[in-house]
Amino acid sequence: MTSETIRQSFLEFFKNKGHIIVSSAPLIPENDPTTLFTGSGMQPMLRYLLGEKHPLGRRIADAQKCFRAQDIDEVGDNRHTTFFEMLGNWSLGDFFKEEQIPWMFEFLTKEIGLNPRNIYVTVFRGNEKLKLPRDDESVKVWQDVFAETGIEARTHDFAERDGMRDGRIFYYDETKNWWSRSGGPEQMPVGEPGGPDSEMFWDFGPDLKLHENSEFQANPCHVNCDCGRFLEIGNNVFMEYMKTETGFSLLPQKNVDFGGGLERILAAKNNNPDVFETDVFQSLVSKLKELTPFYRGSTSIGATSIGATSIGEGGAQKIIRILADHLRASVFLIADGVRPSNKEAGYILRRLLRRILAYRIKYDIHADLFPEAVNAVKEKFGKIYPEVTRTKEILTVLEDEKQKFEEAIGRGVKEIEKYKEIEGKEAFYLYETFGLPYELVKELAPAETTRNLAKADFDKEFEKHQEISRAGAVKKFGGHGLILDTGELKAESEEKVGKAVQLHTATHLLHWALRETLGKEVRQMGSDINPERSRFDFSFNRKLTPDEIQKIENLVNEKIEADLPVNFEEMPKAEAEAVGALHFFKEKYPEKVKVYYIGTDLQNAMSKEFCGGPHVKKTSEIGKVKIIKEEAVGAGVRRIRLALAL
Ligand code: SER
Repeated sequence: MTSETIRQSFLEFFKNKGHIIVSSAPLIPENDPTTLFTGSGMQPMLRYLLGEKHPLGRRIADAQKCFRAQDIDEVGDNRHTTFFEMLGNWSLGDFFKEEQIPWMFEFLTKEIGLNPRNIYVTVFRGNEKLKLPRDDESVKVWQDVFAETGIEARTHDFAERDGMRDGRIFYYDETKNWWSRSGGPEQMPVGEPGGPDSEMFWDFGPDLKLHENSEFQANPCHVNCDCGRFLEIGNNVFMEYMKTETGFSLLPQKNVDFGGGLERILAAKNNNPDVFETDVFQSLVSKLKELTPFYRGSTSIGATSIGATSIGEGGAQKIIRILADHLRASVFLIADGVRPSNKEAGYILRRLLRRILAYRIKYDIHADLFPEAVNAVKEKFGKIYPEVTRTKEILTVLEDEKQKFEEAIGRGVKEIEKYKEIEGKEAFYLYETFGLPYELVKELAPAETTRNLAKADFDKEFEKHQEISRAGAVKKFGGHGLILDTGELKAESEEKVGKAVQLHTATHLLHWALRETLGKEVRQMGSDINPERSRFDFSFNRKLTPDEIQKIENLVNEKIEADLPVNFEEMPKAEAEAVGALHFFKEKYPEKVKVYYIGTDLQNAMSKEFCGGPHVKKTSEIGKVKIIKEEAVGAGVRRIRLALAL
């Protein structure tokens, strides 16, 4: 079976079960300021899972493009990729466990033809402290479907401690069998939906060589063990909870959110755990092998050495996998509009591209990999994702980036070799001078030179530099988007920077006025400021009335007229929290933070926020503002656009 067959039969199968097939959303979420990439099939469905009516009904299925930046460092083994396709089906308050589980089983065993004896499943153990029940309902349904194929599906409670023994269904805790966008039940922010899940695993068999050589060999192996014997091929999330201030409440409806990696289901079908050996990667990987000297013409890869670096067989395989993953992911990201830059999604793309470019230099790959990758991706995916057929445009972006950085990177890669010791300062120098991202320095430098290199030290250097290079650039801090990075800043007129700063302070006033008017449960969900307008997202579950909008606008303008001073103090995070400074729940803050406050003293200030600045010195500098729009961005999230009134 090929990836095309599996994708197609999944969609057909769920169409026959009454689902409407929708096309993949872009990799950059359209209406979700809280996340950089679409990392799961459920993200575009969020508002419908929360209760909004989906225009196409209550049963939806798709194949969704996904990108997970958090997996970049995992790429290189046989199963992790940054970009992947997730097959998904959803019940939006329609069917639940009793239907989903038998359907999944039917799909995997009958449609795809997987042997049920190699399928194992997991369910949520429950958590008394959190008052979350154990999922015995799913167990019952799984036992019934296995019984139909003559398999007695026994349960076991602590496979991670005792091994699998003769079990088929295993209970795990919330670190394994709970799903929300932000992780386990305790990590979820208020308002976030989530629920227990039931995952399906494919068993490649006890003879798998990977397991024999694995560090896990002595431990009792179980389905969630990392040795490589088992591969998770799908996850049924029973999304029925929402996080509240005090615990959990039930969502207005019980949802099913299923997601399964296409390449992984294919790997199971091939009974080969290496996703890079599936047809999805075939032509790209063989092209790469052809073009890389350590593969080309060498009969004994193990003996190949490059410069002083002996890479060995495992090393060669890892490099090919990383190149294949990063090339494919970059093409998809660019096709969806991402451009290399120094911030957010653009920075992640830049990281992928610079790693590819650095590998070319380090491993002496002369061939230009970009045209090959663009063609291979077009051939394999063009029919399903037509955006990747815009090869000329995609290639231009790639070549641009290559030109911009190749020379610098090349010198940087060589420069690394000169250091006996690389710490934060040196790493920052390499970043600033040659454009080498921190991660790449860490990866390319010999391990003994980076023993004392910590990300925090690099960040400290980075911050120092930013302060020195003057604070026209607003760092992403306190949830306010990076409005202008230093590069852009030089090109922008002072006037534009000034406007963005005015709007930045006005945004703090807006945040305050919203809470005054609508209640203290209003929370910032995201924001983005440019010289033309400020866009502010906050949690609130209904449309604002014209009166409320007017009142909020008036409050902001009153405080502007009152000509209040704006100041900041630096303090430990805990102290900042104690003083009541607002912060953005999705953001990770350093131990020491800046608190910007509006008013004469910190204790009594009307507005206090964790924020990197910059701000006007006195509110009167803002002039006057106007709310130009108020709209929904998702269930429970509203967006206000604020502009300077001329
Ligand atoms: N949202 C779940 C996941 O990403 C299932 O679709 O695993």
